[in-house]
Amino acid sequence: MAMRFNDDFIDKLRDSNDIESVIGSYVELRRRGRTLTGLCPFHNEKTPSFTVYPETASYYCFGCGAGGEVINFIRNIENLDFIEAVKFLADRAGIKLPEDNFDDAASNLRRRIFEANRDAARFYHETLFTEQGKAQLDYLMRRNVSPKMIKHFGLGAAPDDWHALENHLKAKGFRRDELVAANLLRYSDKNGKRYYYDAFRSKVMYPVIDLRGNVVAFGGRVLDNSKPKYINTSDTPVYKKSNELFAMNFAKNGNDRKLILCEGYMDVIALHGAGFENAVAGLGTALTPEQVSLISRYADEVALCYDSDEAGQKAVRAALSLFSKTGVRVKVIRLEGGKDPDEIIRTHGKERFAKLLSNADNDTEYKLSVIRSKYDVETADGKVNFLREAAAFLATADSLERDVYAMRLSDELGVSKDAILQQIKGAAKRDYYRKSKNQFNEAQKKVAEMEKSVDPQRVKNMRAARAEDIVLVTLLNNAEFYKRFKDRLNNDIFITPVNKRIFSVLAARFESNESTDISHLSQSLTSEETGAVARLLAKHSMVSNTPKECEDCIIVLEEEKKKRETPSPSQMSDDSFLAFFSSLNKEDN
Ligand code: UTP
Ligand code: MN
Repeated sequence: MAMRFNDDFIDKLRDSNDIESVIGSYVELRRRGRTLTGLCPFHNEKTPSFTVYPETASYYCFGCGAGGEVINFIRNIENLDFIEAVKFLADRAGIKLPEDNFDDAASNLRRRIFEANRDAARFYHETLFTEQGKAQLDYLMRRNVSPKMIKHFGLGAAPDDWHALENHLKAKGFRRDELVAANLLRYSDKNGKRYYYDAFRSKVMYPVIDLRGNVVAFGGRVLDNSKPKYINTSDTPVYKKSNELFAMNFAKNGNDRKLILCEGYMDVIALHGAGFENAVAGLGTALTPEQVSLISRYADEVALCYDSDEAGQKAVRAALSLFSKTGVRVKVIRLEGGKDPDEIIRTHGKERFAKLLSNADNDTEYKLSVIRSKYDVETADGKVNFLREAAAFLATADSLERDVYAMRLSDELGVSKDAILQQIKGAAKRDYYRKSKNQFNEAQKKVAEMEKSVDPQRVKNMRAARAEDIVLVTLLNNAEFYKRFKDRLNNDIFITPVNKRIFSVLAARFESNESTDISHLSQSLTSEETGAVARLLAKHSMVSNTPKECEDCIIVLEEEKKKRETPSPSQMSDDSFLAFFSSLNKEDN
């Protein structure tokens, strides 16, 4: 990536976007001495391993390895590229950007896609009220969607026409390749010719809007019972369906940190129409860890509102398991009196839904009821077996919850509360050893996997990688070490590609006497590489910062380099083996 902003501008941007308050608006941070910690927004966890270092204006998560400075944080949490993140922070602080000639092909295309989507949404919405959208409007009326909700969600109609949107947007100056990139236009190649056509035809259109108000995608519903029922925008440079939730742009505001998670567009629209403005839905995929993580940023409690059929209950179990890795409380709504919220509200009114919501089981109740349904608790045998499994399950609950449920089960089954608590304790003990072992193994596996995928050389060369880390940390902390060891420091002694990159960027900056602050480095590094610098800074307390330490590690790297360059004896010809052998002897004396 070419250099775009000068260091003074980046300094100003960094200083007017205090890392503590920027990150603090996404993550609840607690001060711990000179650092702050919180639950990592980039992976699901229950104990905080995400750390913010105000002194270096950086952050690092010891659980998943995410790290960087304030720009990189915004890049990753808002899903932006570097320039967009800079703009975001400049806006936030009310700073003007320097010259706007930082034209970058990728962010330019993203901007064009946003614009095309916005114009497409407007086109579909306007078409809904014309002759060409009559069938779609009738459909929405039949389904009791009020004009107010049609406006609120910007619902629309894709006409029965292969080129209506294409012609409309081309007249507005959009190019075909931009519309293809936006997934608004598709093509097929026949007889050496390329034919373009509108992706959505004869559909009721549901625009998907991201948290910042951009139209990022569309769902289009057929007007009859044909299959597939919906077609959706596939992933584009501005949209990853596994990361978004329909209506989250509305639901994130004033929701008392409670959300309702349902299955589809129609459920959400019916709920918002009935005043439940905290309803969201996935976008045609099973619930993903990214969506769970997004929900946990805006809610402490989520009510699952899935169909009561087998598939819906399977989805409930999968969701419970995903949420159990977070601090979000989960309730499960039992949809009695209709197959989905839309139907319940239509046939029984919104009061009925409100009642179902307030009666919703929390996840403990729900799981107990699932366990209960497996046994015949009227028989002594069934009772014992139910209690045994219930105790094993409650072993995972905290002591307050154990107490509450032991009491309820005691009432229900006529067994003493103490006996039940005893049973739970026993199960907990058996569980403890197995669990902690599993957890440890799992965490180890995850870190190893990540290191391998980000930096495969690192795992293969741990000794060199550690030495590289220390050399880089001591250089970052002591610019004068660079001058001192310059002659022995070059790209070749670094083996892991990430550290090699960091070193070359550092060296270039040392050579021209520029700052090596992480905010300045990040401009020349990828997001992952910036994360690696943050990791180095996070570990800086582990080094003593003496020239000797730096030099010792340079020696290790020189040794490792020699090893790499010396073929193993079995690969050598006789002559070179003899030469190698005598050189060994020379070194010995
Ligand atoms: P539903 O079949 O429940 O759709 O699928 P719905 O939104 O309630 O629509 P109606 O009430 O039948 O009109 C739930 C969600 O799954 C995705 C859509 O996001 C839908 O809202 N889906 C479903 C698809 O992406 N493609 C399909 O073919 C079907
Ligand atoms: Mn439905």
